[in-house]
Amino acid sequence: MTRLIFLGPPGAGKGTQAKILAESCEIPHISTGDILREATDQGTPLGQKAQGYMARGELVPDDLILDLIRERLSQPDAQKGWVLDGFPRNVTQAEFLDRLLQKLNQGCDRVVNLDVPDEELVTRMLKRGRQDDNETTIRRRLEVYRSQTAPLIDFYGERNSLVYVDGNLPLEEVTSSLKQLAQP
Ligand code: AP5
Repeated sequence: MTRLIFLGPPGAGKGTQAKILAESCEIPHISTGDILREATDQGTPLGQKAQGYMARGELVPDDLILDLIRERLSQPDAQKGWVLDGFPRNVTQAEFLDRLLQKLNQGCDRVVNLDVPDEELVTRMLKRGRQDDNETTIRRRLEVYRSQTAPLIDFYGERNSLVYVDGNLPLEEVTSSLKQLAQP
């Protein structure tokens, strides 16, 4: 059973690595960013509410995310493990997740902090060119990461579940470090 949370700044490689790891462990890759992008592409009520926040590089309000995570982690395929990517994103979400996992009788094995220097993050995102990968939005996403998400490093560090992984290495090398952590 593998249950991992991926922390790390925008562009660190969370999505790339979470997908590879989830496939290799045959567990769901749960990305709140992917869920929200799908909702905006489809123009659902969730997508319509989230769109402006995402375009500005702000976090969408917690109330749009929490029910969605509760439902997703309660689904049958998530009972055999998961990789969470992009959630939790602030202390409120992390506290919610703690309570939810207790209720679901699930634990989290590791919280992985993917470390990558800012210049490399910006280079990667500009090269990728997703809709929110323009300079103004990238700058705001990095600020939001520092003020709202980075405090989770201490939050999980105090529980001894945090592991640092150097994300500034070739993709396959990062994958190989992560696969070692994901061993049951
Ligand atoms: P989200 O989709 O979570 O975006 P993010 O955290 O900004 O992260 P990215 O997707 O940009 O980066 P990543 O770390 O996944 O890197 P990737 O693997 O893509 O969130 C988007 C928005 O949704 C937020 O701004 C917010 O509005 C909203 N949102 C989402 N979750 C939320 C939540 N819980 N609460 C509130 N709002 C929420 O890699 C980046 C690039 O680098 C790729 O091109 C990749 O190919 C390349 N790359 C990866 N690894 C390497 C490597 N080792 N070497 C070289 N290149 C690499």
